[in-house]
Amino acid sequence: MTDYLILVGKGRPMPQDLEITLEDVSGVQLEKTAAYMLRQMFDAALRDGIELKLLSGYRSPEYQQEVFDRSVRQRVEGGMSYEDAVKETEINVAKPYESEHNLGLAADIVTPEDYDVFESFEDTPQFEWLQRNAANYGFIMRYPRGKEDVTGYIYEPWHYRYVGPYDAQRIGNRDVTLEEYLLEAELVNSEY
Ligand code: DAL
Ligand code: ZN
Repeated sequence: MTDYLILVGKGRPMPQDLEITLEDVSGVQLEKTAAYMLRQMFDAALRDGIELKLLSGYRSPEYQQEVFDRSVRQRVEGGMSYEDAVKETEINVAKPYESEHNLGLAADIVTPEDYDVFESFEDTPQFEWLQRNAANYGFIMRYPRGKEDVTGYIYEPWHYRYVGPYDAQRIGNRDVTLEEYLLEAELVNSEY
């Protein structure tokens, strides 16, 4: 059974033997319940005239490594030193087993026109709709602006994490990250 509050992040890898039941959502895989709730959320958005697109969901740890390596390579090709490219990548992309995408509980959501993630997603009606409604379907925006030191990652207005509606609403109301929420609830007891 999946623990929807599982904390996976930088230096906090998931158990390697975790069993995840995946389901397909328009060609992208997500954990079964997250997939069901995401479908409900996308349908509700459509009823409000908002079209959402799931760009990325579950990634195998091997694929996560590829995403990481590609990001380093692109930065080096762009003229950065290898060392800086790795440093930059580390605040943008998680290592294998340290990504919520490896859990099947993360959804990168964009507009239908987008084929990549952009910070400018925050200026779209899609983002505004998600801000108002995502928690009702159990999703939180996982990497808020100003919380980079807590999460270890840059602001990602496109990355939504499934935690279930009860906790998503509480996290939203308190305006905290998952790390802070779990620490407050004493569900994690060490430094995050
Ligand atoms: N971009 C997020 C941190 C990930 O790679 O999981
Ligand atoms: Zn993501």
